[in-house]
Amino acid sequence: MTRIIGIVSGKGGVGKSTVAVNLALALKAFKKSVTLVDCNLSTPHLSYYLGANDYIGTINDVLRDKMDIQSAMYNYNGVKYLPASVKFEDLIGVELTKFKKHLAKLEKNTDFIILDAAPGLGKEALFVMDASREIIFVTSPFVPMIADVIRCKEVLRQFGERKMSILLNMVTYGTHEIKRDVVEEITGLPVVGEIPYDKNVTESLVMRYPMMEYKPNSLASINFMRMASLLTEKDYEIPMKVKLHKMLKTVKNVLLPGNIKMPDNAEDVKKELLSNF
Ligand SMILES: Nc1ncnc2c1ncn2[C@@H]1O[C@H](COP(=O)(O)OP(=O)(O)OP(=O)(O)O)[C@@H](O)[C@H]1O
Ligand SMILES: [Mg+2]
Repeated sequence: MTRIIGIVSGKGGVGKSTVAVNLALALKAFKKSVTLVDCNLSTPHLSYYLGANDYIGTINDVLRDKMDIQSAMYNYNGVKYLPASVKFEDLIGVELTKFKKHLAKLEKNTDFIILDAAPGLGKEALFVMDASREIIFVTSPFVPMIADVIRCKEVLRQFGERKMSILLNMVTYGTHEIKRDVVEEITGLPVVGEIPYDKNVTESLVMRYPMMEYKPNSLASINFMRMASLLTEKDYEIPMKVKLHKMLKTVKNVLLPGNIKMPDNAEDVKKELLSNF
């Protein structure tokens, strides 16, 4: 069965589109057939992130019954890609409820379908949650964003059982951040990856190349590969530089701790979180 993965977050700007694009390319590198869909209809970004502007059709055309979903697909270096229209007027007449029916046509011959969602819990995010079989919450390791993950998790219940996990993004391994194991304990969800904060990611955006192509050997790209290896259950040797990076950051935190320290036990972090509800 095709794995339909929704890339979701409560808060905007946490890295969903970055993750959707680079995870799609990493899965492709593991020889999987991948489809990527821009489901952020009001503020679409994926075409910019991919540097793709010569596409034929959009998800808007499909949801307005103007084009068949298969004919609207664009080939981005072997990844099948369905953009969203950047024209505001193309939102008129879009029927989100039709998405699942159209998506079903793409399942044949596709191992993974990656859906890049709009942030929050509005209609635009909910139709992605509904269409997905698995959800990856992208978040940074701070209280408000983790509180959003818990809120989204509650909302997701209305759609029935889903495999859910968390990807921590823009991690610096500082003492002010909530630790990975604490995140897992307070959300009850597994963390499937940690992407470090890496200024190359923003550079790649400006250059209009996905990070996986712009700097394939960067810490961020290696971590996308690691995540794809977990999802595909294929072996991937983590390069020494990634292990060293995390180790050095951890040692630095012990020797030169930051002024701000997040508790490293779940109970105290939970107290902070509860003040958000
Ligand atoms: N690991 C990272 N290191 C450094 N910068 C990052 C990282 N991940 C994402 N960014 C930057 O953060 C910004 C927001 O990323 P992105 O657009 O992927 O977020 P988003 O969650 O899709 O936003 P939106 O909610 O608006 O759709 C971008 O400028 C991106 O380059
Ligand atoms: Mg986005």
